[in-house]
Amino acid sequence: MHTLFFFQTAVKRLEAAGVAAAENDARLLFEHILQAPRYIWPGELDGDQQQLIEEMVTRRCNREPLAYILGKMWFYGLELKAEPGVFCVRPETETLVETALNWGSSESKTAENLEALDLCSGSGAIALALQANLPNWQVTGLEQSSTALGNAQENAEKLGLPVRFEQGDATVVNPQWRSKMSLVVSNPPYIPPRTLPAETTYEPAAALWGFGEDGMEIPAKIIEVAWEYLLPGGLFLMEHDDIQGEATVAIARKLGFSEVQTRVDLNNRDRFLYARKPQN
Ligand SMILES: C[S@@+](CC[C@H](N)C(=O)[O-])C[C@H]1O[C@@H](n2cnc3c(N)ncnc32)[C@H](O)[C@@H]1O
Repeated sequence: MHTLFFFQTAVKRLEAAGVAAAENDARLLFEHILQAPRYIWPGELDGDQQQLIEEMVTRRCNREPLAYILGKMWFYGLELKAEPGVFCVRPETETLVETALNWGSSESKTAENLEALDLCSGSGAIALALQANLPNWQVTGLEQSSTALGNAQENAEKLGLPVRFEQGDATVVNPQWRSKMSLVVSNPPYIPPRTLPAETTYEPAAALWGFGEDGMEIPAKIIEVAWEYLLPGGLFLMEHDDIQGEATVAIARKLGFSEVQTRVDLNNRDRFLYARKPQN
């Protein structure tokens, strides 16, 4: 069958199934099977290629996340393993990483033996992006799920990045990290009760829901734990839902954080908490 005709048919099927970026997803599926960028696709598809693409398009029409179908995802220029059981990192989170890196790079000029901790590290996306760009820092990731932890360790090994990933509960203070960290970051489960896009039904529930009527149960604990881990002058950044700006700011101020702000994402929605531990 003619490749471009088959491609247009795939785009139409994805659009009809409600897939938001139908053309982009179809292109990535075709490139994955054909192992070639769009401008050098062959004029015709053979039977095997047609069948493989057909199967993948059907999975995407069933709203399985693209990352699970491809077995990989991209974050801050890094290619990461993706598989069911592990949260698919979202591009919005890159804004938090950008802020952490701007701050971390200037810290690197004046201090040594700097440590960063990523609470609820999932696939390792944030911790790995930090380590790739702050090579002199010791970066640690903490994650509860053994499947996610395994993927994070595999990602670190493949990328040659020396992040330490540990298994544990991020809502409980681990005494070994008390007053040790210059930087604590987190993208914890925070979603309040609401209807989510169909794709999320494939992702682990423990990665999504923040619990409580406003989804703040887990994020509130993470803010408290981060306070314990930070050194004076250290920075805490935590992604949250766009309805949680006020609540996260209030908790951080009550604990004693300074420079407390809600930062917005590229769509101008309240997206993450910025808070410093006072110097003394
Ligand atoms: C929203 S996902 C974020 C993953 C990763 N940080 C990212 O941005 O792609 C939240 C992660 O927190 C983990 N998690 C949930 N509760 C946890 C807890 N109490 N302690 C540690 N990790 C937890 C989930 O397994 C999931 O991997």
